[in-house]
Amino acid sequence: MTADLKFADGISRLGTESAFVVLARAQKLAAEGKDIINLGIGQPDFRTPDHIVEAGIKALQDGHHGYTPANGLPALREAVAADLHRRHGAMLNPDNVIVVPGGKPSMFFAVLMFGQPGVEIMYPNPGFPIYESVIKYSGATPVPIALEEANGFAFAAETVLSQITDKTRLIIINSPANPTGGVTPKQEIDKLVKGLEHYPHVAILSDEIYSNMLYDGRAHVSLLNYPSIRDRLIMLDGWSKTYAMTGWRLGYAVWPDSMVDAVTRLCINDHSCVNAATQFAGLAALQGPQDAVHDMVRQFNERRQVIVRELNSLPGVRCADAAGAFYAFPNISGTGMTAREAQDRFLEDAGVATIAGTSFGSWGEGFVRFSYANSTENILEAIRRIRAIL
Ligand SMILES: Cc1ncc(COP(=O)(O)O)c(C=O)c1O
Repeated sequence: MTADLKFADGISRLGTESAFVVLARAQKLAAEGKDIINLGIGQPDFRTPDHIVEAGIKALQDGHHGYTPANGLPALREAVAADLHRRHGAMLNPDNVIVVPGGKPSMFFAVLMFGQPGVEIMYPNPGFPIYESVIKYSGATPVPIALEEANGFAFAAETVLSQITDKTRLIIINSPANPTGGVTPKQEIDKLVKGLEHYPHVAILSDEIYSNMLYDGRAHVSLLNYPSIRDRLIMLDGWSKTYAMTGWRLGYAVWPDSMVDAVTRLCINDHSCVNAATQFAGLAALQGPQDAVHDMVRQFNERRQVIVRELNSLPGVRCADAAGAFYAFPNISGTGMTAREAQDRFLEDAGVATIAGTSFGSWGEGFVRFSYANSTENILEAIRRIRAIL
């Protein structure tokens, strides 16, 4: 007899991340001999700095082959606390730092902790697709925070506050943002926090994974610096983007005291701990020289200026200033194509992988995400090819 399986309902509600689907298609076209320029995937095109790699190798050679504490090596959690003090001036107890395999687990755990049928969770739209996916998985109702081009894709405190109801359990915000590169200014965050003081039943997940990538003299505003919401704030960050370590799988969040026990149990049930060698590499990343990070951000900034200028020169395309992360999110509606049509034509006809804005939520229609984690030369060639087909 053939299998006749009935999956749990939640599985059909899980979404995906189209960047991986586009990457697979781009790799297939490349294997067929097509010359593909990949501006689709959201990872730095730099190698992990050598001293970090060496620390990982040394950890393996030194025999660090076993489990570590589920919340992460104490030295690593202390180094995270020191790094957050250095970068944001934030004071925190290392016991509130929970180290996990990448940025994603903290968001999944936060949503599992609060999401269930009958409650609402707010999330940015267009935004990182996993937010909406895991909210739906949990059975909670996803409530989009619409991000607008006219606002530089910053979120408006008023929009967020006006959508809070008795059923709201969690609000997810992300600045600097994927897919838009938008950065929310400090006065808007001040306003949001002031407003949130009236809603003590609402937890906040601030995804700050791009906190090292802001341009034109902008400074990152961490939600950790707002004492009035610290007892319900989850602040997510990690090594993937800052240290070009996406494949190592290492991230963390700072959790308030009331959530530490629950998230530690989620870690123990899910993955036990992050592999030990990766944690030693992460320690070297935080404690070693930061030159490679500064150099990477400087190069991103140069490419950002090139890509924004070039996109704005294409017929039917306009591109808002990309203030952070390593994405440009041009409006392509003047080309007459939908976001998905543009993604497909750019890849199939021009050999340029990009991601349709609709992969980041319904508010992304009319936009396409370009990752500028690629050389200036390739960026210029990609725009030349797109110009030729427009
Ligand atoms: C906004 C945002 N948060 C979290 C992540 C997840 O990072 P990681 O690869 O470390 O899981 C990403 C990755 O693209 C992201 O863009």
